[in-house]
Amino acid sequence: MNAIRTDIENRVFLVSGGTSGVGKAIATGLARLGAKVVIISRSAESGKAALKDISEATGNSRGDWVAADLSLQSSIREVSDVIKRKYDHLHVLVNACGAIHFEKELTAEGIDRMFAVNVLSHYLLTNRLLDILQESGPARVITVSGNPRFFKNPVINFEDIQMEHQYSGMRAANQSLFAKTLFAFELAKRLEGTGVTSNAFYPGFVKSNLSRNAPWYLRAAAPLFNAIVKAECEIGVYLASENEIERANGVFFDDKKQIVPIHTKFDDGAGNKLWTLCEGLRIY
Ligand SMILES: NC(=O)c1ccc[n+]([C@@H]2O[C@H](COP(=O)([O-])OP(=O)(O)OC[C@H]3O[C@@H](n4cnc5c(N)ncnc54)[C@H](OP(=O)(O)O)[C@@H]3O)[C@@H](O)[C@H]2O)c1
Repeated sequence: MNAIRTDIENRVFLVSGGTSGVGKAIATGLARLGAKVVIISRSAESGKAALKDISEATGNSRGDWVAADLSLQSSIREVSDVIKRKYDHLHVLVNACGAIHFEKELTAEGIDRMFAVNVLSHYLLTNRLLDILQESGPARVITVSGNPRFFKNPVINFEDIQMEHQYSGMRAANQSLFAKTLFAFELAKRLEGTGVTSNAFYPGFVKSNLSRNAPWYLRAAAPLFNAIVKAECEIGVYLASENEIERANGVFFDDKKQIVPIHTKFDDGAGNKLWTLCEGLRIY
């Protein structure tokens, strides 16, 4: 049982993907420390259900939800306005929403659904909230990433980032993990000296619903996986709340260690390329 942290009880933590998996694990860990946690849920129903679980698990009922479909730019625009109207401050944004789509799907706005949720939503939501984060500084953005052992050769195909040709769910999922990590590093560069930091992290294996769109044999294996992995994400809670890493910026964390500088594995200029590409897809 973690002790309440009086130094963070007045900070506002916003967690995308807070209804399940890594996001919910981080929201729960932060609530256990006494924090004010706001989760982004897809509906009022799922938001309320997740908050009920979190308050039952932690005794902290200060949580709140805001609803958005993060695959849609229109919804990201609306929810970021709601957040800025509802809260005076925002100290931490946790980018933890994610999905795997094994079949190619487009959103109503014509964007590849997995790219929209895993990458573009982080770019848009973060940029839309940068003003309130900067006003609330010191503030942090933390972005969930993949296992660093799979980052040996992180290739992002900028010519076909939405995989319009020869779509493969697993390749697209991997590429989106690379791209969101690159996003976190590029954001860090752009935030230098602003009082807001950006770091990426590998959560380890966390209980998850990520297989919901998977073929039946992967869905069938999910309960087994969930039975043996943790429902907590200590590293995410640490990065969101610990004072000792307040100045860390542009770092990839794995188990509280600042690990291999993965950014050296990306081509020079790749972060800027990704930024320009996302900006070009922006419709609001
Ligand atoms: N779990 C792990 O062990 C692990 C390890 C390494 C990396 N990761 C990465 O962490 C990310 C999240 O994975 P997870 O395991 O936490 O998956 P998860 O259990 O499926 O949770 C995904 C979260 O994202 C939300 N989400 C998905 N699409 C959305 C949309 N269009 N609008 C709003 N919210 C949406 C989901 O909301 P709903 O509840 O409404 O679906 C849910 O809250 C993924 O990028 C994954 O690759 C996970």
